[in-house]
Amino acid sequence: MGGQASIAAVKGFRDVLPNESRLWRQLEATAAEVFAHHDFHPLALPLLERAELFARTLGEGTDVVEKEMYTFEDRDGTMLTLRPEATASAVRAYLDSGLGAQGQAARFWYTGPMFRRERPQKGRYRQFHQIGVEAFGQAEPIVDAEILIMLMHLLARLEVREATLHLGSLGDATCRPGYREQLAAFARDRLEALCGDCHRRLVNNPLRLLDCKVPSCRAAMQGAPVMLDHLCDDCAAHFAAVRALLDGEGVAYALAPRLVRGLDYYNRTAFEITAAGLGAQDAVAGGGRYDGLVAQLGGPDVPAFGFAIGVERLALAAGLTIEPPAPQMAILPLVAEAAGAALSIAVRLRAGGITVLLEPPGRSLKALLRNANRRQARAALLLGGDELAAGRGTVRDLVRGVDHRLALPLDAGASELVRWVREHEEGESAG
Ligand code: HAM
Repeated sequence: MGGQASIAAVKGFRDVLPNESRLWRQLEATAAEVFAHHDFHPLALPLLERAELFARTLGEGTDVVEKEMYTFEDRDGTMLTLRPEATASAVRAYLDSGLGAQGQAARFWYTGPMFRRERPQKGRYRQFHQIGVEAFGQAEPIVDAEILIMLMHLLARLEVREATLHLGSLGDATCRPGYREQLAAFARDRLEALCGDCHRRLVNNPLRLLDCKVPSCRAAMQGAPVMLDHLCDDCAAHFAAVRALLDGEGVAYALAPRLVRGLDYYNRTAFEITAAGLGAQDAVAGGGRYDGLVAQLGGPDVPAFGFAIGVERLALAAGLTIEPPAPQMAILPLVAEAAGAALSIAVRLRAGGITVLLEPPGRSLKALLRNANRRQARAALLLGGDELAAGRGTVRDLVRGVDHRLALPLDAGASELVRWVREHEEGESAG
């Protein structure tokens, strides 16, 4: 085996090591609790979908569809894509499940990896993770407000610093085409100042002209018309109602007249949330309304609203750290013959809910104790030849450095052992 080259992880794909992973679980557990309180129900979706699901929903002119999808041909010739996001899958599942047929209301949440072949940098990966929410069948502004309030509440609970809601409206099929034409006309008058990408955007997806990062394009597009000034009466009323509901709850937001989402299925309310500590990739969550998508995938006319949080970014922005659980008992066999007794006690204590660090025999007492202390174990059960002969271990209180002869025989039942450890711990904290 020696001497072979090691194999590196794929670029943009990373391992989530225990300290971060532990935090992720806490983030997800808190999200699951908050979502349950808001009548959202868990949905597990496949990672692979037919390529056309995304090609048909995310938008032809978007970066995701144009250059970021992992698409390949399956052995039977089907074109498959590793999902770049989950909203399209959720719509498919909503229709496949039969819930969509009558346009029934359904509220889901999901979590898992997404895949986009972007240029990796801090907070941007090719495999990243989202926690997302999708609500089907509810068109009213109260739903937009309810979900935005839920999301801001969740971020506050996770101690995300400087979470800022950037809120806009993208209009609908009534008002957006006219606006898009005005924006395109504005850009055509400034053609020579725009980059090559913007020339393509002008043809494929003029709204994205507002999203170009090139400074000269930004300068040229200053003063461009914005969607918020061109909403039709219905879209304007919807947006005003959402804002009034947020204002009524004291939820702060920044109006984002130039907000464009990276995916094309949105209409009306659209938003992003930025947070401190993220660097250039500062959007921790994004989403909005997508009232046309269910029909676009062959279902009835069902309105929908949703968002997704980026978990890697949430972990960077959240103010929490989760300490590894300290073992309540380290079991330290000092002689080889103690292995059986050590394992047996560990099994019984763990079955009773005690966190146990079980060491194999073969190291010195000193080395074992050093490790138990490093791991912040509260107590150690020492099993040497004397203890085995007596059938009673020695328990060393590692917090106070006192030894107790285990009052119970080593073959005591699980519940007695667990009680002994618990009482011992209580005595400790009382003393
Ligand atoms: P999105 O804005 O493309 O929306 O992604 C949502 C969040 O995922 C972003 O705000 C960001 O935190 C995270 N994210 C996106 N790309 C990456 C990446 N390459 N690396 C790390 N994090 C990333 C959607 O995906 C929509 N499906 C959200 C939605 C649900 N809209 C309606 N329902």
